Amino acid sequence: MTSLPQLGRALAALGIVAVLTGTADAQNLDQGKSAAKLFTDGCATCHRSPRGLAKGRMNLTLYWFLKEHYSSGPDSAQALASYLQSVDSNQRGPSRTAAKPSRAAGGASRPRPPAPVPGR
Ligand code: HEC
Repeated sequence: MTSLPQLGRALAALGIVAVLTGTADAQNLDQGKSAAKLFTDGCATCHRSPRGLAKGRMNLTLYWFLKEHYSSGPDSAQALASYLQSVDSNQRGPSRTAAKPSRAAGGASRPRPPAPVPGR
């Protein structure tokens, strides 16, 4: 007599398990999401896409750049640095940071070439 409610309960339990499993996955996604949101909120005004901003730079270099130029706090700078890198490496595969010859030419205060900022 009670087989139908029992089945329903079993299904509900399965559903809960599925939700919990999904939540475990969603934590990683959420990290990327909050960095993506940081970008959308604070950077997308001028940079329409996060792609191509990392330019194969090392995480620390990017981190310093973001902290110096945008002073968004160490945590968000780190998150944004990783985000920019992940977006970039997804697009282009392995970065070639070590193979840059231009490093020796200018030193620390080399003039930066104007970056193509996609305006409107
Ligand atoms: C007010 C407009 C503006 C906003 C907002 C802005 N940027 Fe920029 N950003 C620029 C300009 C202009 C440049 C190019 C000049 C330069 O390289 O210093 C630049 C350069 C960069 C570079 C270096 C790119 C390169 O070609 O070397 C990175 C990385 C970067 N921005 C990331 C960010 C991030 C992350 C945010 C959000 C926290 C952000 N920007 C917000 C205008 C902006």
